[in-house]
Amino acid sequence: MKISDYHLGFIGFGHMGQVICKAIIQSKLIPRSQILFTRKDRDKMREAEKEFGITSTSLENLLKKSDVILLAVRPSQAETVLKEMARLKVDESKMIISIMSGLKIAYYQKFLGDKMPILRVMPNLCSAVGEGMSVFTFSPNPTVEFQSMSNLLFSCMGQIVEMPENLTDISLGISGSGPGFIFRLIEAMAKVGEKHGIAYEKSLKMAAQTFYGAAKLILKGKSPQTLIQQIAVPNGTTEAGFKEMNALQIDSHFQSVIEAAAKRSQEYSEEYK
Ligand SMILES: NC(=O)c1ccc[n+]([C@@H]2O[C@H](COP(=O)([O-])OP(=O)(O)OC[C@H]3O[C@@H](n4cnc5c(N)ncnc54)[C@H](OP(=O)(O)O)[C@@H]3O)[C@@H](O)[C@H]2O)c1
Repeated sequence: MKISDYHLGFIGFGHMGQVICKAIIQSKLIPRSQILFTRKDRDKMREAEKEFGITSTSLENLLKKSDVILLAVRPSQAETVLKEMARLKVDESKMIISIMSGLKIAYYQKFLGDKMPILRVMPNLCSAVGEGMSVFTFSPNPTVEFQSMSNLLFSCMGQIVEMPENLTDISLGISGSGPGFIFRLIEAMAKVGEKHGIAYEKSLKMAAQTFYGAAKLILKGKSPQTLIQQIAVPNGTTEAGFKEMNALQIDSHFQSVIEAAAKRSQEYSEEYK
């Protein structure tokens, strides 16, 4: 089946559901006429229909019509939705993609049966600008069709990596929550510029472009170690900064920030067993 032949249904159409839908519509992978969604708030339903040019429907109709079902509710709303899906019976020929943080494959299969093909995806906010990082974890033995369809679907939002389920919590710390930590660092950089007299907007642009450019160099294949050596001239300005980074143990403290997010993700999966 060609990607353009699939029918896609969003269960939950909040912030992240909309980011994903927008990317799919812009990429023209699946025609709008084959995209359905359901959400709770009726007014927001009508607003989203107008904004996206797609159709809202009942959960029952969505489950019937969609080949691919994308779960985009919050983890706290998952049980209600999965119980309702189990009551309505979801055919095992359907493919379920969930972007919910923290919930293990076994949790979905507890409601939907252990043969239900599931893909856990952890996208991030940067998917909104086509520079997202999506981390994939499939239920055992995914079909080639499921893998290639999902790869095509999410590659329009950025990069994809596959990860075994035992590494999803730390992955969430790195790339799921990661943009939040980077936003904070960019803001901190911008504010120090402002403190020294640069206009905030100008300083913010300088900080953000510096992060973007540095990341691009690494994604082009340069190793961080080589770049660090290149930039840190002995007794130079960058080296002075590195000395302060070492004294403040910035690396290990920053790693603790990521590990705190991973720990919260682990707690989530304990809550939703
Ligand atoms: N935000 C991020 O950066 C991010 C990144 C990676 C993963 N995620 C994951 O993405 C998921 C969604 O996050 P979000 O930020 O998009 O949340 P959100 O904006 O609160 O959206 C949740 C959506 O679920 C709908 N919903 C709730 N209960 C429902 C039900 N019983 N039936 C149908 N729809 C229902 C809500 O509908 P109404 O609004 O109409 O009530 C809303 O459209 C979360 O599980 C989160 O872990 C988020």
